[in-house]
Amino acid sequence: MTKAQDTIQIRPTSNGVRGTLTLPGDKSISHRAVMFASIAQGKSRIVNCSGGGDNRSTIAAFRALGVEIDQNGTDILIKGKGWHGLHAAAGTIDCGNSGTTMRLLSGLLAARPFDSRLDGDESLRSRPMKRVMAPLTEMGADIISEGGENRAPLRIHGKPLHSLAYRSPVASAQVKSAILLAGLQAQGKTTVWEPERSRDHTERMLPAFGVPIDVSGTEVSVAGGQELRACDVEVPGDFSSAAFFLTAASIVPGSELRVRDVGLNPTRVGALDVLRMMGANIQVENLHEMCGEPVGDLLVRASSLCGIELSGELVVRAIDEIPTLAVAAVFAQGTTTIRDAQELRVKESDRLTALATTLNTLGAKVTELPDGLLIAGGHGLHGGRVSSFGDHRIAMALTIAGLAGTGAIVLEEGASVAISFPSFYSLVRDLTEPATIQL
Ligand code: S3P
Repeated sequence: MTKAQDTIQIRPTSNGVRGTLTLPGDKSISHRAVMFASIAQGKSRIVNCSGGGDNRSTIAAFRALGVEIDQNGTDILIKGKGWHGLHAAAGTIDCGNSGTTMRLLSGLLAARPFDSRLDGDESLRSRPMKRVMAPLTEMGADIISEGGENRAPLRIHGKPLHSLAYRSPVASAQVKSAILLAGLQAQGKTTVWEPERSRDHTERMLPAFGVPIDVSGTEVSVAGGQELRACDVEVPGDFSSAAFFLTAASIVPGSELRVRDVGLNPTRVGALDVLRMMGANIQVENLHEMCGEPVGDLLVRASSLCGIELSGELVVRAIDEIPTLAVAAVFAQGTTTIRDAQELRVKESDRLTALATTLNTLGAKVTELPDGLLIAGGHGLHGGRVSSFGDHRIAMALTIAGLAGTGAIVLEEGASVAISFPSFYSLVRDLTEPATIQL
């Protein structure tokens, strides 16, 4: 894609964000459904699988590993042949932009009796892999960083592993899941403890595939030597995608929006709690369960927001939503302080720098802290030219900012939204008028 094609224009909307929305499937749950079905014995059907670039990387990886996967839009049929159905990929496995693909595959492939090489794009090559390499190495894994400094490409020489009791220094579902996937293949019981509870989709989904899991507080254990049994999974709408629309409808006057069938897993919905603490008017309706995950509809109406202090476990539960919450803070009255968010420096971009730089270019008053942001709200945003830093969530946050500001935003590297949410711009266009998005 050329730079011109990758540049999006966003104009403020005068009539609010209005309508009803159903979102593509949750990215984290889709990754796990494809992975678990691929190592399970039997046929699994996944309905409403995310069609984002990251999930396409996971599907391509398992096809490369010999798994038969039939895809019909968001409907996926996987013919798993158990752990032993996997064979060495013919070449390097391309994980694209996806940290979840690379980190979970590291644990999954560390105990397979063949060699694998995992690589990704420039952003993924810059992300820390020591957090999975260190515990997996303790389990006996042989993983070499070809990129140096514990960065991808990673070369994995598969071999038998032993169990581990691991205290993770970071709250990370990717680290936890990588260790559990290795632990399933190891001898004995593997336990992971994390400082705060990260998203628990792995723990919720493994039992559906026939694998019992022990959860006690922030400690999770699995027994080794386990086979998975095929299972159908219906993936709920992605709360992380919903969060951009919850923010947009909260800050753009005249908005009223209903988002249907959104995953409301408590380990994921920190941003819902934060927006409500800021004064957002969001109601949960039609609460029900879908494949072990709580799901509901969200009804949001515009309201005036105020600044808050955000730190600790709330940050863990809203880790992917800090970009959209920063935009909400820009349009809130008073100051918002975000602390304990140093993990944002090692996401698809350094999101603290990306947010401070772009929002200040557009007229906000944001100070970058070592582990967060200080946002003096209530000054609004004017138009301007900014880049997403190639990061899907920065692109979507800036788009939402553009709807609520006073001037047009020209957004470079806007096509990055396709990593998690390819239909994002067309949905924004459908919910706003006159047209706010020009591709
Ligand atoms: C994810 C875990 C989180 C999150 C990422 C998806 C997952 O990363 O930021 O978008 O699906 O396990 P960390 O495990 O690095 O916190």
